[in-house]
Amino acid sequence: MRQFHDVEVNPHDRALTREELLHAVRGRHAVITLLTDTVDGAVLDAAGPQCRIFANYAVGFNNFDLKAATARGVVMTNTPGVLDDATATHAWALLLATARRISESERYVRADKWKGWAPMAFIGQDVDNKTLGVAGLGRIGSKFARKAAAFDMKVIYTDAQRNPELEQQIGATYVDKETLLRESDFLSLHLPLLPETHHYIGRAELAQMKRTAILINAARGPLVDEKALVEALREQVIWGAGLDVFEDEPQLAAGLSELNNVVVVPHIASATIETRLAMGRIAAGNVISTLRGEAPQTCINPEVLR
Ligand code: GLV
Ligand code: GLV
Repeated sequence: MRQFHDVEVNPHDRALTREELLHAVRGRHAVITLLTDTVDGAVLDAAGPQCRIFANYAVGFNNFDLKAATARGVVMTNTPGVLDDATATHAWALLLATARRISESERYVRADKWKGWAPMAFIGQDVDNKTLGVAGLGRIGSKFARKAAAFDMKVIYTDAQRNPELEQQIGATYVDKETLLRESDFLSLHLPLLPETHHYIGRAELAQMKRTAILINAARGPLVDEKALVEALREQVIWGAGLDVFEDEPQLAAGLSELNNVVVVPHIASATIETRLAMGRIAAGNVISTLRGEAPQTCINPEVLR
């Protein structure tokens, strides 16, 4: 970007506060944002009428007000595609860590509590040959589902739309949400956060799941009613959960981090060197193209380009 433009970079390895963001965008022709930056009408207006693009350094864009941007003729972009494998693999890491109690048993070793091998110590759940449920068979969900072949799992999925071709390719069976909840030994969420997917998993849904089930969320925190999840984990309504994302990041719901049947990590599903570089390249490329008057690679409000 520096080849073509004057670039000012956030000096911190953290998100800007709302106030810092409102100040930093002023007078810019382009802004690259993090998934924690809410870009609404106020931010767009603070940037000013010369601003052409907000490029999210994330695939999710629930932090963007697309309508407000489109109304102002501002392009919005995300980083789809390059993080599918990293995110799907991370969901698997959470699944395996939860099933085999990796975090809990590692804490035990580090605390110097290990006094010797024991037949029933840290008994977990088999993964092989179980039923894997995938909520959302999109770019990331389908990568996640594909990797289940290594564990000889039965894969079931649900989505707003059925995808028979993909079903065939990866050997997944379409089911309704109720069946997904009832039959999954592992249920992983790969849905976008939308008004209709908010609290996709709540108290009622948790109650329909198997007592031995494990819930994985590396999508968006508000897909799960986190308070209801804490209760379900505490009362062993389900067996465990592996979470990369939370309803009110960086805050965790009260009681969550005290539970041993949950693995919690800080929203790092796409955090690999290769993937973060690729995301950066897409965001930068989108800025350069847009400021040249060309269509960016991954526009999420293409109506502004017409
Ligand atoms: C990460 O959460 C992303 O949306 O890229
Ligand atoms: C475990 O280490 C075994 O030998 O069964």
